[in-house]
Formats: sequence, C-alpha cells, structure tokens
Amino acid sequence: MTPSTTTTQRRAFNDGITRFWTFAAPAYDARCLQRWVYRPAQDEAIAALRQHGSRRIADIACGTGILADRIRRELGPDEVYGVDMSDGMLAQARRRSADVRWMKGPAEQLPFEDGFLDAVVSTSAFHFFDQPAALREFHRVLAPGGLAAVATISPRQLLPVQLLSASLSNPAHNPSPADMRSLFDGAGFEISDQHRVRRPVWTQVVSDLITVGIKA
Ligand SMILES: C[S@@+](CC[C@H](N)C(=O)[O-])C[C@H]1O[C@@H](n2cnc3c(N)ncnc32)[C@H](O)[C@@H]1O
Repeated sequence: MTPSTTTTQRRAFNDGITRFWTFAAPAYDARCLQRWVYRPAQDEAIAALRQHGSRRIADIACGTGILADRIRRELGPDEVYGVDMSDGMLAQARRRSADVRWMKGPAEQLPFEDGFLDAVVSTSAFHFFDQPAALREFHRVLAPGGLAAVATISPRQLLPVQLLSASLSNPAHNPSPADMRSLFDGAGFEISDQHRVRRPVWTQVVSDLITVGIKA
C-alpha cells in the first residue's frame, strides 16, 4: 500500500525534528535553559501525577529524560517510561538514569499495548506532534481512569509569524486553550483541569498551558 501524502509529509517532518534534536541534545541540559524555560511545565506535570496517584507512567517526547527521572525520584511509582524519537536525546537520557525504561518511538505510535499505562505526560513538545493522532494514542495506551497531562506552548495572542505559519499549513502549531479542550474531547478525554503554567514573571515570555484529561 502506498502511504498517503499526509503520512509522507508527517514522516518527513518527524525525520527533520529528530535530526534537529539529535544535533541540539548536547546543549539541551544547560542549567538556565532548563530552570527558566522547561522546569515550570515539568513541575505542573509532577503536581498532576501526584494528585492522581499514578503508578505506571510514561513521559512522551522525554528529551534528555529530566522529567522522567524526576518522576521516578520524586514520586516513586512502580514503573516509569521515557519515549522519544531522537537518538541523541535518548542517549543522554540513558546516561541520566538506569531506572527509567527509555524507548524510541513517535508520540503518534507509542510502543505500548492498549490500556497498559495509568498516566501519560508530555511537556514542551506537543507543538511538534500530529496533535489529534497523539492524543488518540495517549487515550489508547491508558487504562480506564488514566490521566493525560500535556503542557504546551499556547500564546495568549497569535504573533504575526504564527499567523503566517498557520496559513502555510506548517504542521507545528501552538493550540489555544479552546483548541486543547477540543482536542482532548475529540480523543475521548474528560478534562479535569486546564490552567496557564505557573512561572516567574520574567519568564512569562514563554506562554504555556497545561491541560489534564481523564479516560472515562
Ligand atoms: C523541547 S524538547 C522537550 C523535551 C522534554 N519533554 C522536556 O520537557 O524537557 C522536544 C522533544 O520532543 C521530541 N519529539 C518531537 N516530536 C516528537 C514526536 N512526534 N514523537 C516523539 N518525540 C518527539 C524531540 O525529539 C525532543 O526530544
């Protein structure tokens, strides 16, 4: 069977993203980048997991594994998985921890059986995904009552460059709060929480949002 044009475009896009992150991996763990840009969203994901009491958790697009490793150390669940497409990012993740199970794969086609997990989190990566496909996949791999928490860039106002990229149908896009609710709803989740990621005022140039859904 010949793959559709959309599938081929998505595959080419994913290959480009993978190459970029493999190249960028060595710079990714810089302390100030982590502290001011990425950590606030990770804090929100951990708070959602703590409240849910999840025991078998996967961090999707885990990058160099900072969040997955924090989940293991701070929450002590039974199993933690980190999934990413980039070999470079995963190589750093493997050096970080031997207690997380690192796996290679795209968010849109996760390496888990149906209903295997009770929580899926993803931070600072959702804008790269085929968003409806990834959320459907999160729903598939969760057991009933399972939690999905996604923190993503969601500008308060669309910048001209984003309007341009939307009009050029760039597959990377930054959903509004309403878009996120509709994506979660479309994948079958009941939304249990949505709020702006709490971050220090001087880092609010990063405008991100966390949405939490439960598989009924
Ligand atoms: C900005 S980093 C975020 C890493 C980590 N989640 C964090 O909060 O630090 C984006 C990551 O998303 C991964 N990625 C992008 N698209 C992906 C996809 N479709 N499936 C899996 N991983 C993906 C990249 O390889 C990269 O490691």
